[in-house]
Amino acid sequence: MTAKILCVAGARPNFMKIAPLLAAFRSAKSFEARLVHTGQHYDAKLSKIFFEELAIPRPHVELEVGSGTHAQQTAEIMKRFEEVVIREQPQAVLVVGDVNSTTACALVASKIRLEKPFRCRFGERTRPLVIHVEAGLRSHDNDMPEEINRKVVDAISDLLFVSDPIGMELLAKENVSDPDRVFFVGNVMIDTLLGAKEKAAQSTIREEFGVAGKPYGVVTLHRPSNVDDPANLSQLLRTLDGIASRVKLVFPVHPRTRQKLEAMGMAFDEARWKVVDPCGYIDFLDLTANATLVLTDSGGIQEETTVLGVPCITLRENTERPCTIDQGTNQLVGTDPSAILAAVDRALSGRVEKRVPPLWDGKSAERIRDILEQVFAVS
Ligand code: UD1
Repeated sequence: MTAKILCVAGARPNFMKIAPLLAAFRSAKSFEARLVHTGQHYDAKLSKIFFEELAIPRPHVELEVGSGTHAQQTAEIMKRFEEVVIREQPQAVLVVGDVNSTTACALVASKIRLEKPFRCRFGERTRPLVIHVEAGLRSHDNDMPEEINRKVVDAISDLLFVSDPIGMELLAKENVSDPDRVFFVGNVMIDTLLGAKEKAAQSTIREEFGVAGKPYGVVTLHRPSNVDDPANLSQLLRTLDGIASRVKLVFPVHPRTRQKLEAMGMAFDEARWKVVDPCGYIDFLDLTANATLVLTDSGGIQEETTVLGVPCITLRENTERPCTIDQGTNQLVGTDPSAILAAVDRALSGRVEKRVPPLWDGKSAERIRDILEQVFAVS
């Protein structure tokens, strides 16, 4: 029997993780993969463009849930995904990352009883296997919705694929270390980055934004802790404006942040700032790869800048990706103006070392495919 794996993607950072997995799974013999798009992100600039640029196949199912409060969004995904799982009777559900779609679909899969039992390396089962790619990340900050998502999903997953050795240690401390279930495979998002580098080099976005051949920084902000409170956001932007007087800042604005900026009536000096809509994957990769520095509160960008060797200043109090500090170019500074300015001085002086964490080599999705082949070979 060929096993069926429903692979879930819902929000922007999921798409670059699911793309290499679906590509690697095409050659699998013991299982077939089908994509479910929850529709957590629905704007063309946060979703469709990634499908086109990363050649992600059309989803088998689109749940079209849209936005809402955490409970509304999670509940709506669960209701709609449960119907899909009942109809499709998959032997496994694979989720990536730490967004609400990840938790919602993992929870649904973990409570379904299949009509027919199936066999896999773990014996006979009546529940689909729950597979988490990017397991083992922890910020130790329960105020972040993503931290709750990470803990819940790791706790109920049958197979955990971990991106870096720190994640393996962390899971071991939580008594999750069974070598048949927990695998260090490297970082699937870096598979996508390495695969897209050549295409990104053809991008004309730097000419379009007027920064080609010039020093510039890239800013991204979307964490609720940074953007939801107008006082925090305006203080952060004042600090960044001081940096913009030294090096022009390109700022692709996330929809959550745009809503807040519009409500505040925020204006940017065009001589110092290039404020734009969210960029596609290829243009954004070219922008970051050639930047003098990046200032961000994103998780994925901390990893991408590590591999690109570009100084990254993380505008958060904690990170779930400490290997980007120990082994990458990341400086975790929070939002204190003097800490940000000191980090910028360090980045501009070129004193940031470039190292790449182990197994961030473009082959992580293939490793996952090979492990899953063994899991389902007995079915
Ligand atoms: C979500 C993820 C976050 C991830 C981020 C990347 C959760 C809890 N959060 O945060 O981990 O880092 O995506 O972008 O899953 N909106 C649009 N168009 C869209 C989607 C959203 O305009 O296509 C607006 C809506 O007003 C929405 C707001 O952005 O209310 C926030 O969207 P939401 O998906 O709730 O959270 P993100 O901030 O995008």
